[in-house]
Formats: sequence, C-alpha cells, structure tokens
Amino acid sequence: MRIFGLGDLHVDFPANRALVDDLSAADYVDDVLLVAGDVAHRVELLQATLASVRPKFARIFFVPGNHDLWVTGAATDVVEQTSLDRVDAIGEICRAEGVEMTPGQVGALCVVPLLSWYEPGLDGGEGTNAVDAADEVMRRLGRRWADRRYCRWPETLADDAARCRHFAALNEQILESQVETSSTGALLTFSHFCPRVDLLPDVKHLRFKHLPKVAGTPHLERQIRSYGSRLHLYGHTHIPQDKQIEGVHYINAPLGYPRERERWGREGLRMKLLVEDAQAARI
Ligand SMILES: [Fe+2]
Repeated sequence: MRIFGLGDLHVDFPANRALVDDLSAADYVDDVLLVAGDVAHRVELLQATLASVRPKFARIFFVPGNHDLWVTGAATDVVEQTSLDRVDAIGEICRAEGVEMTPGQVGALCVVPLLSWYEPGLDGGEGTNAVDAADEVMRRLGRRWADRRYCRWPETLADDAARCRHFAALNEQILESQVETSSTGALLTFSHFCPRVDLLPDVKHLRFKHLPKVAGTPHLERQIRSYGSRLHLYGHTHIPQDKQIEGVHYINAPLGYPRERERWGREGLRMKLLVEDAQAARI
C-alpha cells in the first residue's frame, strides 16, 4: 500500500477539475491519498470532487484549506454560516463520502491530519515589534486579501492568531482521544498550512512578498515535533517543496493554478509518492 500526497487542487478552475477527473480509476485502488486542502470554494464542488475521487483510492484523508472555508460573497449563496461552521459541514461531508479527517492507522504508520490557519507570527519572532509590524502589513493588505472578504469567523476567533490557537487545541483533543496509545510505527502528519518559515524561499524570490505573514503557524511545527512526526505534507504556498530539516521530511505537492503550472513548466497532475510501502513504515 502506497501513500500519495497532493494539495491545492482548486477544482474551481475547469482545467484542474479535468485533471482530477482524469485520475486513473484503476491504478490507485490499493493506495492512500492525503489531500492537503484547498479543493474548492464552493462546498458542492468540494463534495462532488471528494465523491468522485474516493472510489479511486483505498482510503483518502483530508484537511480543509482557507479556500474551502469561504462562505460569503461570490463564493456561495450561504451567508448564515461562519467558516467555523464550514469546518463542521466539511466533516459531515467527509463522513458521508468515506473520507477521513481524523487520525488513522495505515499499515505500520499513523496518519494524522492537522487543522490549522495562518498567523503573522510564523515570520518573525515572538517580539512585540515584529507582531505589530506584521499586523500593520495585514491592515494594509486589508480586504485585498480574499480570505478577508470570503471567510467569516465568530467573534471569539476575531484574529488569525486566535484561529491558529483554536485549531491547534482541536488537534490536541483529537489526538488525545483518537491516537491509540498502542499505536506503533512512525507518524506521518499533514496540514494545509506551512509549519516553518524556512520552507519558503527567501522573500526576495517571492512574487507575493507578504506570503510569510499568511503562510502558516508555528503551532504546526510544535505539534509535528512533539508528536514525533517523521514526514509532514503541507500545501497553501503553491511552492513545491521536498526538504529534510532536523530529522523531518517536509513535502509540498501542489496541483496549483493553471498559470502556475505553466510557469513551473509542468503539465498534468503529479501526486507525490510519500510512502512506497506503508507496511514497512520506512519514511
Ligand atoms: Fe490555501
């Protein structure tokens, strides 16, 4: 049983939808797919995509990305829901479609999806000045940043740092209740958001210079390390990555936007093979 990873499917783009639809119905039926978020803005499309891909794999694990949590404006007609409600709705959809959003044993490995968001603190230090400066950047970005327009949060989760803390606490709860203490073998974690700023290229090479402020959260890195994960798949940045840092293998395998694939000189959908044989647990 192999384990593949893929993120940022963005099937709102017809070209991406076609690539996902074209995934072989025969080649992966004994394999596992980890989907690292950002499948679709529209929840109906998210459901349809999970439903169509699900029979092509033995198991699919999923964590939502920011685009999956858009609930207002042009993204959908549903205006009463918050993005936190959407997380729950996606959980229901996954249960109905047989897609897993909670930890599960796969062969000798334990696969652990980690919920998360992003916060300016990924980039910079815990110092007050750094955080203030980051807040200023976010204020200037303002409603030009699409999540500001299309996500809605309850008052208790009014800022990005509060959302990161909330999802990190949910991860702890889920892990405590669901990862059996008898579970053996290596841990493989995945998230939509980025756990470490040094997984991003130097800012001078970034097209979007504010990316480090909206890329991820250090809560993820803390959890990856404290759970003893050996391999972590993430998404969101749309920057392919395959890097070992201090004993953990970090991989980003985005499908990305059609124009990005053009820029990368890549055609088609390339899932990343994360684990050749889940029974052998060599990762
Ligand atoms: Fe994203």
